[in-house]
Amino acid sequence: MHKKSTALLIFLLSQPFLSFAAQTGMVVSEHRLASQAGFEILHQGGNAIDAAVAVGYALAVVNPCCGNIGGGGFMVIHLATGKNIAINFREKAPLKAVKNMYLNTTSDATTKGYLAVAVPGTVLGLDTALKQYGTMQRAKVMAPAIRLAEKGYVVTSYEANQFKKFAEDFHEQANVAAIFLKNGTPYQAGELLIQTDLANTLKLIAENGPNAFYKGSIAKAIVTASNAHGGKLTLQDFNNYTIDETPPIRCAYRGDTILTAPYPSGGPTLCDMLKVLQKVSLKQSGYLTTQSIRDIVKAMRVGFTKRNKNTAANKIMARQHELTDTTHYSILDKYGNAVAVTYTINGFFGARVIADHTGFFLNDEMDDFTTHPGVANKFGLIQSEANAIQPGKRPLSSMTPTIVMRDDKVLMVLGSPGGPRIITTVLMTLLNVIDYGMALQAAVDAPRIHYQVIPDVVNVEPGTLSSLVAKQLAQRGYHIQIQHTWGAMEAIQIDPVTGHVTGANDYRRPDGAAVGLN
Ligand code: DON
Repeated sequence: MHKKSTALLIFLLSQPFLSFAAQTGMVVSEHRLASQAGFEILHQGGNAIDAAVAVGYALAVVNPCCGNIGGGGFMVIHLATGKNIAINFREKAPLKAVKNMYLNTTSDATTKGYLAVAVPGTVLGLDTALKQYGTMQRAKVMAPAIRLAEKGYVVTSYEANQFKKFAEDFHEQANVAAIFLKNGTPYQAGELLIQTDLANTLKLIAENGPNAFYKGSIAKAIVTASNAHGGKLTLQDFNNYTIDETPPIRCAYRGDTILTAPYPSGGPTLCDMLKVLQKVSLKQSGYLTTQSIRDIVKAMRVGFTKRNKNTAANKIMARQHELTDTTHYSILDKYGNAVAVTYTINGFFGARVIADHTGFFLNDEMDDFTTHPGVANKFGLIQSEANAIQPGKRPLSSMTPTIVMRDDKVLMVLGSPGGPRIITTVLMTLLNVIDYGMALQAAVDAPRIHYQVIPDVVNVEPGTLSSLVAKQLAQRGYHIQIQHTWGAMEAIQIDPVTGHVTGANDYRRPDGAAVGLN
């Protein structure tokens, strides 16, 4: 690299970007180091897909709660050529999985341990995207992640807090403790976390691609551990795993085109909600007024009612408050390609198991199925058959990576974690920009509301409603509940007039950053 541009890169990487405008590319993720990894690839001339693969692997290192190679997700791509693609790399149930497999198990069997693990899709998803639409070699885009794992990264206070909460789980397995505990205690903010096992795994993938993961020693290590601990995974599950590549689903909203991930993601429900809101003028009703909130809640009611009936109301939809244990990132390159990725291992640190020396947490995505058919959960919700467990099936998801187009040009790239709140977080951010004309960072930081029909409660973040609006809504029979903030929107916006690019990291996930170059 040229000396001058190296200096510029070092300068840029040292800047505490939160919201930043860029003409030559932008990466926004929930960890600054992962955003920088993506930016490094863009700076080397890579396209948004190259950068997306780099960020996906980097988050697996620096955001081990949520970033992953042991889980799955959805990627939505807009190519400068005009082609749009959705890659569904959602996990699949093991071939030995059966509908009632959790009826006589402990209550945490769907969230902890090997029985909770579905066949991971991330490695095949990222690799397919790179092969089809990237421009760089796998080893090059994986280099930042391998470096972060091998040389280590400095733990933040936000992350140290997570480590502390899960220290007991880490203690339970010697191989996990060896990585995530330092002399038996959780890593503190400021300490260097080196992940040698993960570095070796990433190197194997860099060299041999998905075969290393699905047909080689990694699959073998996972299956051996699963067999030893009551899981159902087999080598055939890994051999047979496939991703789906389709066009994204699209819907119109106030003249813009929404491109989002197809079923079983949250995309269709987002479109159902927008269809309802298309018929009213939120702008005329005003921002966070009684009328506009009624309209938005109605849209959420329509969306979730359809989803609950046609697909499934699975357990995650009934939980009171989802934390942010999934992760989303958005990328735009100077060539005009855009990528939105949301991927997850479901709960924090997934099923909280690592197979032998593979160095990465496996998902607990089986919990996204309707695991107890016909049984009412604690909110009286009878879960639908449509999302019942079947061998090789992908569970329903709320993940909603989305790209908004205006006049055939990218207007926004966005997405969030948050279980069912993902869908409403994406919706609210879209409304803030499209209906209320907010600047991106304001739209991301603005308070959120969420309604999912069951329970019949409208959740609002603190400071969302004036006392008058809260009173009027209560008088009309709405059950309002204030909850701690949720979601973590990582978004990009391109000004349709000036072409100016802005990235916005959600203040709710303080380690994140928008990194771009003017
Ligand atoms: O796919 C889904 O809908 C869930 N596994 C996502 C979980 C999630 O977002 C949890 N984080 N808040």
